[in-house]
Amino acid sequence: MRSATDFALLRDGGQVLLRGSEPADGDAIARLLASASPADHVSSALMGSMPLEPAGEGAADGRLLVAELHGVVVAAGMYRRVDEALTAEAAVAVAEAQRGNGVGTVMLERLVQDARRAGILRLRSRMQPQTAGVQALLGDLGFPYTQSLVHGAVEVEIDLDPGPEYLVRADERRHVAAVASLQSLFHPRAVAVVGASRRAGSIGEAVFSNLLQGGFAGRIYPVNPAAPSVLDVAAYPSVGAIPDTIDLALLVVPAAKVFDAARDSLQAGARALVVISAGFAETGDEGRHLQDALLALCRSYGARLVGPNSLGIFAVLDGGAINATFAPMLPPPGVVAMSSQSGALGVAILEHARARGLGVSAFVSVGNKADLSSNDLLEYWEEDPATRVIVLYLESFGNPRRFARIARRVGLRKPILAVKSGRSAAGRRAAASHTAALAGSDVAVEALFRQAGVTRADTLQELCEVATLFAYQPLPAGSRVAVMTNAGGIGILCADACEANGLELPSLSTATRAVLAAMLPREASLNNPIDMVGSATGSTYSAVLRVLIADPDIDAVIVLFTPPRMRSAQEVADAVLEACDPAPHKPVVTCFVGCPMPETRHGSLVIPSYAFPESAARALGQAAARAAWLRAPAGSIPPLPEIDRSIARRCVAAALARGDRTWLGAEEIETLLHAYGVALLAGQVVHSAAEAAAACARAGEPVAVKLVSSTVLHKSDAGGVHLNVASPTAAAAAYDAIAASLAERGLSQGMEGVLVQPMVAGGVECLVGVVRDPIFGPLIAFGAGGVNAEVFNDVAFRLHPLTDVAASELIDGVKVARLLRGYRGAPAADVAAVQDLLLRVSRLVEDVPEIVELDLNPVLVRTERRGAVAVDARICLAREG
Ligand code: COA
Repeated sequence: MRSATDFALLRDGGQVLLRGSEPADGDAIARLLASASPADHVSSALMGSMPLEPAGEGAADGRLLVAELHGVVVAAGMYRRVDEALTAEAAVAVAEAQRGNGVGTVMLERLVQDARRAGILRLRSRMQPQTAGVQALLGDLGFPYTQSLVHGAVEVEIDLDPGPEYLVRADERRHVAAVASLQSLFHPRAVAVVGASRRAGSIGEAVFSNLLQGGFAGRIYPVNPAAPSVLDVAAYPSVGAIPDTIDLALLVVPAAKVFDAARDSLQAGARALVVISAGFAETGDEGRHLQDALLALCRSYGARLVGPNSLGIFAVLDGGAINATFAPMLPPPGVVAMSSQSGALGVAILEHARARGLGVSAFVSVGNKADLSSNDLLEYWEEDPATRVIVLYLESFGNPRRFARIARRVGLRKPILAVKSGRSAAGRRAAASHTAALAGSDVAVEALFRQAGVTRADTLQELCEVATLFAYQPLPAGSRVAVMTNAGGIGILCADACEANGLELPSLSTATRAVLAAMLPREASLNNPIDMVGSATGSTYSAVLRVLIADPDIDAVIVLFTPPRMRSAQEVADAVLEACDPAPHKPVVTCFVGCPMPETRHGSLVIPSYAFPESAARALGQAAARAAWLRAPAGSIPPLPEIDRSIARRCVAAALARGDRTWLGAEEIETLLHAYGVALLAGQVVHSAAEAAAACARAGEPVAVKLVSSTVLHKSDAGGVHLNVASPTAAAAAYDAIAASLAERGLSQGMEGVLVQPMVAGGVECLVGVVRDPIFGPLIAFGAGGVNAEVFNDVAFRLHPLTDVAASELIDGVKVARLLRGYRGAPAADVAAVQDLLLRVSRLVEDVPEIVELDLNPVLVRTERRGAVAVDARICLAREG
């Protein structure tokens, strides 16, 4: 069975299977090479010399892959190690008829990915000078490459370092392919409902009748072998029997029948399937196999699959809508696109949206996410003119790193709001390093959303409240809010809530106060909140609101109303609408407390209305945070001098030869950190009291004498740290004391030696660490270090890779930043060195993905321009699974 990552999307939205070659591919590859133009013969010869792989197995020192389209081999690609295993020769051959559709690019991308994973740093390819196509391909891929003439052939060497250029190009390619692949799903001309049922109240009936009644302008066909017609529409026994080309098939038959129904639909031309049936991966291994088979079938036809276990999809189309769900009720058409992983919560979100009058442009229940994921939907909705706001209910991330990149890009154009349920696994694992111990269960999600600029809502209610604001109001230019009310109490509540949500209520300017004083009674308060007192009428509201909208020192207005006798909420709502017409350039929200919600929309003008001042303040706080995110520089990954990847790769290969998971020894740590320009305090590992004395004499007193152990995490607690040791004799005594202390605790086996280091004076103690989350990848930590690390829990996390901006936010996200920036007259520490260190650590985990845990603790940060040095370091490697 092929795994999902075996398939790649092509430029036209089709899908190609990429797999290791097998003995049976010999003839197909030979035919491919025979048809290669003479100019390709260098690479053909090289490829011809590669052995076919034993079934499914990638050879350790090279790979020969093939690309298969509809069962036919259309391309082959290979690499083979040379030069101490860091460089590989590579070649790609694409069948003439398939050139220009991106097959060569996805083949090369896969080779690059496999080669990088195997620790190869460069790919070298030789070709005849006239093979311009291959060079164009390389340029297109976005990797830096050099060319030279060798024996009349062009030798191209690609540096497999995925710089920002490569990622941008790769994302562009995937974006084009993803959008193209979803056309049949979102713009079908003909739809078949397989399992359209005659039984009133059944899911098959609900889907079919929703589709019929949902305003779909295309053709709709029920498929049901047992029925001549369903809801008075002539039915067909199979999709193949329909005399039309079907674009989209909705499958609503029991799980056991889905595979056959899918094949029937795909054979009849469907290029998108929505599988509503349950009974797949969510039920266990058998269901998972069924799901895998279904996915492989869809992929072999180049079709996209929604679900299985999906509630269906809804989309507003040109001149109508497609409602292919069995949801009982849908919100009105609007501008918010929603995706939900859970069907039940999808219904809840739709219901909340409907109750609030929040209109949707699309709704997709991704179900088990066998194929279509929120990443695909983000790609699609980025371009969708009907969608202004994107809402995601997520339970898991397939590819968080890609999500982060796509979300960041899409988020610059359209707000993305998300509720994430469940917990990441980082905190559940046994912690063997400080960083792992500090990584709580939700830090990865939090870091992901923060870095990607995704607005996170805690509840479905908040999700809809914030979406309403994003959908209908502009973002505030800043965080200065004016609150106007007819009752002091709710004004104060609202002011508190604003503050709690990062908003400020500035005093009004003298000019504004003067204008307001002229229109309000004497007992009114002109402070912010502006208490207009109970006598305020609709016209008072309207006049005051106009003044606040015009005030350049105010970024947003919250209008509060609680009904006194004789005054109707609708009168005030109408006054607010009138003051906001034409739509103001700053957000205005309302809150009607203690009365039924009045109508706050007029034509296209919608003023979000909330039941509580806290909700209004929270939504506005989220909008201000998004505006700040949009204003912040995007950041980049700067080039870092003095990095030697080759040394690191060799060191890692040697260490992993010991076992699949291993803690590095002191010398290995020094080599690895040194190769990445990370300063580590020198020291000597000794194994006896006499050696400790000698090392102390060499280093010069005072010294620190510390236990070296990959199993004892809290060395101080185990009596493993002696500081300010003032003489060689004392160093020998410290050695003995450590040995005795471990023996007393029964930990003698954990004593791998003792490190003798010169004492360094001064500096702020920090921690820099890495922990690999099984789902989110490496998380980089920064915070207060030393023995206090876990006591103060003053640590923040960001997902790798770090940009310069993310590194600096990471530093400023913890309290120890105040010490670094110079607290109470103390000199500022070398923050630039900390930032450089964080970027280097991020680069290290990029190049050495085998790092699963890394602790630099403490890192001593000295005063400005004097650098930061790691005093203690622990690194654990594991072979990638
Ligand atoms: N092609 C077309 N129609 C077929 C068919 C086939 N191969 N096999 C059966 N049918 C028809 C049947 O004739 C029947 O029509 P009828 O009701 O008019 O007699 C109809 O399909 C339904 O078949 P049935 O066997 O009665 O299935 P069901 O209605 O009991 O259940 C599902 C079908 C898909 C609803 C059910 O299997 C299921 O998965 N339910 C859970 C769905 C769910 O919760 N999804 C996730 C939402 S978040």
